[in-house]
Amino acid sequence: MCGIVGYIGTQAATEILLSGLERLEYRGYDSAGVATVLEGELHCVRAKGKLYNLREKIQRDVNPSQIGIGHTRWATHGKPEEHNAHPHLDMARQVAVVQNGIVENYQEIREELIGKGHQFSSETDTEVIPHLIAECLANSATSLLEGVQQAIARLEGAFAIAVISADHPNELVVARQQAPLILGFGQGEFFCASDITAVIPHTHTILSLENGEMARLTPLGVEIYSFAGERLLKFPRTLDWNPTQVEKQGFRHYMLKEIYEQPDVVRTCLESYLNPNWHAQENPDFSPITLSLAPRLYENLEYVQILACGTSWHASLIGKYLLEQLAGIPTTVDYASEFRYSPRPIIPNTLTIGVTQSGETADTLAALEMERERRASLEPKLQARLLGITNRPESTLAQIVDQIINTQAGIEIGVAATKTFLAQAIGFYFLALDLAYRRKTLSNERIENIIDGLRHIPAQIEKILETQESYIEELAHEFTETQDFIFVGRGINFPIALEGALKLKEISYIHAEGYPAGEMKHGPIALLDSKVPVVAIAMPGSVYDKVLSNAQEAKARDARLIGVTSAMNAQEATSTFDDLLTVPEIEELISPILAVVPLQLLAYHIAAIKGLDVDQPRNLAKSVTVE
Ligand code: F6R
Repeated sequence: MCGIVGYIGTQAATEILLSGLERLEYRGYDSAGVATVLEGELHCVRAKGKLYNLREKIQRDVNPSQIGIGHTRWATHGKPEEHNAHPHLDMARQVAVVQNGIVENYQEIREELIGKGHQFSSETDTEVIPHLIAECLANSATSLLEGVQQAIARLEGAFAIAVISADHPNELVVARQQAPLILGFGQGEFFCASDITAVIPHTHTILSLENGEMARLTPLGVEIYSFAGERLLKFPRTLDWNPTQVEKQGFRHYMLKEIYEQPDVVRTCLESYLNPNWHAQENPDFSPITLSLAPRLYENLEYVQILACGTSWHASLIGKYLLEQLAGIPTTVDYASEFRYSPRPIIPNTLTIGVTQSGETADTLAALEMERERRASLEPKLQARLLGITNRPESTLAQIVDQIINTQAGIEIGVAATKTFLAQAIGFYFLALDLAYRRKTLSNERIENIIDGLRHIPAQIEKILETQESYIEELAHEFTETQDFIFVGRGINFPIALEGALKLKEISYIHAEGYPAGEMKHGPIALLDSKVPVVAIAMPGSVYDKVLSNAQEAKARDARLIGVTSAMNAQEATSTFDDLLTVPEIEELISPILAVVPLQLLAYHIAAIKGLDVDQPRNLAKSVTVE
């Protein structure tokens, strides 16, 4: 949430900051601003709304300053108005600060500073920071680094900040506590940002700061310190990064591009994690899956607990189904935000899995850290075993868990998760198959059979995209005025009902709910009439007939029925459903991977036809780094 960027070097800073902010805009987009130092003065420009408003304001300015900081905001404290936009300055306009996070004790600090004569011009928590730093710098012997160090010692909460000062025109100081912050190393120029996307056009040499670390950037180099002031020796690494991942490549929206990337994401996953030399018949003594999990994570495993939020929570529900049904391991899935405050009782030999596309979700990271801490002093079998599932192996998640499964989806820019959901789900198929193999809960033949099904997925998704998209686009026109949708599914496709509903509500602003199909009659059915379409995920398999009869119950209440089913059953399904979204024939166990694709397209086209901002829906952010 919120994106921060900073630059110091030999080029004019403003354009670098603006283009960095453009690449961070998915983190928040209700206001933006930049500050630079020029001829001993701070220049700060801020604008309400999207970044182009700021760009328009700045275009009137020629500013050769070679140092600056920028911010794109997702409001927490204070409405999205210009006076609440970052950077925030102290009263004497000597210090400018951008922040991502929340200063929890800001009220107390603010009152204390008001008592000393400070006046504030925003309602934000952030504004106390430049005021505090300015107080510390009042002693002229204090360096900018020391001033920031003293000020942040007062702050409670999660924050990543970047600070410049009119009196220190050749330094940029940054600090990180529970909010992401990376440094970029160029030739005589240095960067800081909330995410590597902002600096990737300039450098692939990156260092991720850890909690409790700060840095001083000058045109000559970067010094890293602990909050206690101890100098730290750290080495950047070079990223293997494909810049086209952050381009639209001719698609109208990132979301559509990312939906279309799904076949290749699955292909890369299959190439990365399937052992090509494994064949059921040969009864090999190595796993068909090459996740290379440390034995400590799976030995004597009795229980798996999964922690996630939002769409990642939906992928985790598929994971639970697979871990229980294939590997026979009791599994629970908790919202990380709930687990933090009501953790489950400690069970021995538990694998805890954090699932997150950003690798930065505050609740997920805090729940994982809590799990490690509360088990740390217990006997070995009770100690934490932490696994992360993410497409961002360089994220904070990797610093917390013992091991990562990289889902190979690359970065996702559209705020609504699509390819990362699919990749997380694929990650769970691999994990469940690996554990099933090790625990001998499935025969080798059955494992090979499931793997064979997975191998067909990329071509099957391509077929859906080729054959269904224009039909779905046409269908979408009929729902632009619809107020409510219900999605139903059962068994392994219940999470797809939840995901279909979430995609629709977050980008089209249509109220949508996902239910287990069998639960409709226990309440939600009261909502149904001819104005409420019902989308039923009716994939052939063990619950197919049940879903069809649940759909009939909705039809009897005049609901318009949209079915997601396999082409094989299309003829039969036509008599039940008013509209059909068909996917290629597929075994029920793997069917969620295909069933979700038409629902992503439906949500996308409804939102696009309504002319909404598909990639940056209102009130949302891609990376939720506050609690
Ligand atoms: C929905 C969506 C969100 C995220 C949630 C968790 O499309 O993207 O619901 O799934 O904010 O984010 P991560 O996966 O980054 O932990």
